[in-house]
Amino acid sequence: MAPNTAQFLSGNRIVVVGAGIAGLTFVAALHQLWDPSLDPPELTVLEERSRELSLQQDPYVLTVNGGNRDEGLVALQQLGLLGEIRQHASLNNGVVRVWSVDWKQLATIEPEPYGTLPAAMMRVSRRDLKRILLEKAEKAAATWHWGCSCTTAEQLPDGQIRVTTVNATTRTTFTQDCDMLIAADGADSKIREKLRPLDGKLQYAGATQIGGISRIHGGLPHPVHGDYGLQMSSGDGVCCIYTPFDHDTVGWALSRTGPERDAKVGPFEPHELEALKEEAWTTGAMFDEPFRSIVGATDPTTAFIRPAKERPAIAHGSRLRGVVFLGDANHVLNSFVLDGANLALKDGWDLAEQICRNVSLEAAIASYDKLSVPRAEHLLK
Ligand SMILES: Cc1cc2nc3c(=O)[nH]c(=O)nc-3n(C[C@H](O)[C@H](O)[C@H](O)COP(=O)(O)OP(=O)(O)OC[C@H]3O[C@@H](n4cnc5c(N)ncnc54)[C@H](O)[C@@H]3O)c2cc1C
Ligand SMILES: *[C@@H]1O[C@H](CO)[C@@H](O)[C@H](O)[C@H]1NC(C)=O
Ligand SMILES: *[C@@H]1O[C@H](CO)[C@@H](O)[C@H](O)[C@H]1NC(C)=O
Repeated sequence: MAPNTAQFLSGNRIVVVGAGIAGLTFVAALHQLWDPSLDPPELTVLEERSRELSLQQDPYVLTVNGGNRDEGLVALQQLGLLGEIRQHASLNNGVVRVWSVDWKQLATIEPEPYGTLPAAMMRVSRRDLKRILLEKAEKAAATWHWGCSCTTAEQLPDGQIRVTTVNATTRTTFTQDCDMLIAADGADSKIREKLRPLDGKLQYAGATQIGGISRIHGGLPHPVHGDYGLQMSSGDGVCCIYTPFDHDTVGWALSRTGPERDAKVGPFEPHELEALKEEAWTTGAMFDEPFRSIVGATDPTTAFIRPAKERPAIAHGSRLRGVVFLGDANHVLNSFVLDGANLALKDGWDLAEQICRNVSLEAAIASYDKLSVPRAEHLLK
């Protein structure tokens, strides 16, 4: 590393809001890439949930891809965490299949692993991914405020940013001024709402998904036992995505175009689950078995109704000096493109790398925009 490049942030204060995938990756990457001969920035992380709740078991297994340099496995490799992730992940060739209503294979997408990656896809639980990122991020000299929710942020006349936070336990409010604010507070970003209210709102993408996770005793039926796939009935605008998690568990998500509905995420009461299954069976009546039995085996704690929403990526330019949006706080892909975690990982890595390699904050943010915006725009299309 060229000496003294990152001195523009040396000793400055950085506040990271959100210890999700993007925020944790940024903290871990900055710690790894920072020139140790320079004073590190004074880093504070604010996370709404407690440390324990934040890591709590999430039933969803994330697919992290590695088919090109803009995907999550590359960031995990750069962080030196690939080996550890691999111990908790199932490897996959990354094949995506497209089936007709009667399970004829219409298309197959087969990505090659990028560079020296061992696979083009890994499946890892959100819990394991976040725990591994957090353990690395906690090696950084940072102050962690768990259970503290950022309520607002404003730019002060001197260019600093004032962050207001509520302690969820005591309901007391405190403020902190910083030189750089990293907004990694997810799709419903409060900071985005406060500081860039007019740029790209979260928009309904025209379809609602219903689904859940099903455990099939005796193992997953073919052909949904191995690869990620989607079954389509194009004429009706109905599609079902199958994401096998392990030998007997599969996530399913049935979508239909139509007006926006209210979201609901499990646990579902017995009558609500029955209604969800009936709806799926009616909507997906054209799909041959094992569609019906997969829906029938849905675990009520995992059921969901989710309108697909998306938001275009933003570039930072020269506005709002020192405020950077990462991951879902910057761009949201609708739930048909399961790539949000990939983008969050790459955003976190790239911002830290640009900070450590450039000579000014403006240059670092401009380089970050050049990496982050096109890859999100590409996936949104
Ligand atoms: C069911 C489901 C399955 C998915 N599967 C995949 C997949 O297979 N592959 C994939 O790549 N992507 C997947 N995604 C998308 C992926 O989960 C997201 O894109 C990713 O989590 C975004 O990371 P993030 O760090 O930007 O935001 P988040 O993970 O949402 O983290 C934001 C963090 O900020 C905290 N926070 C929020 N507001 C505040 C506040 N005001 N103050 C303090 N803290 C705050 C939150 O508690 C949270 O910890 C899936 C999403 C869902 C819902
Ligand atoms: C929030 O309040 C709890 C309970 O008093 C306290 O233990 C914790 O340290 C506080 N957190 C912060 C960041 O002030
Ligand atoms: C910032 O760093 C990147 C990566 O090293 C480099 O490509 C880019 O030219 C730098 N930008 C400026 C303005 O120095």
